Amino acid sequence: MSNKTTIKFNPNQQIDQKTINLLVQKANEVKTRAYCPYSKFQVGAALITPNGNIYQGCNFENAAYGNTICAERGAIASMIASGEYVFSAIAIVTNVTGYNDNDVSSPCGACRQSMREHTAGDKLDDTLVIMENKDGKRVIKDMEQILPMSFGPDSLGIDVSMYAKQGRDLGLYDNYKKETDNKVNGGD
Ligand code: THU
Repeated sequence: MSNKTTIKFNPNQQIDQKTINLLVQKANEVKTRAYCPYSKFQVGAALITPNGNIYQGCNFENAAYGNTICAERGAIASMIASGEYVFSAIAIVTNVTGYNDNDVSSPCGACRQSMREHTAGDKLDDTLVIMENKDGKRVIKDMEQILPMSFGPDSLGIDVSMYAKQGRDLGLYDNYKKETDNKVNGGD
């Protein structure tokens, strides 16, 4: 059996085992930087965009507990701040350990919704969600599997594809922004 496993993740691209391992490694790296004095539950996330860029996030908590931001949304914020809007795969790691299928921690509901908004590809099952626990137990699902019948931009009839197309530097967003500014400022 070949050592190299190739996993289909969208019609135009494939993510291989090496990339998956790298994402898990990057997620583990950032997990150690989590700010979690209250829960003491460290989470790390690393996502890869269609451009091949990797962004990391860790959870950071607050004395006002509700202000807590999860690792997944931290990674998405980092991606957006760098001018990219969609990702092809995300690895999420925690210090959960154990012996059955529930022993890998999966993203919370709020994060699933945020992740769904920023998936690359035409279909939600194009985007991989890789979960690994402290023992190295790994579960790989796709976005459709972890958030079926989801609500998204299309449910509102809003087309957000210009963000994905823009990637980093194409400037399409600038045109979109001009149109929006015109509307807001009453221009035409
Ligand atoms: N947490 C995440 O970072 N991601 C999740 O998907 C679940 C929960 C964080 C939030 C909080 O800091 C700690 O884990 C315990 O809930």
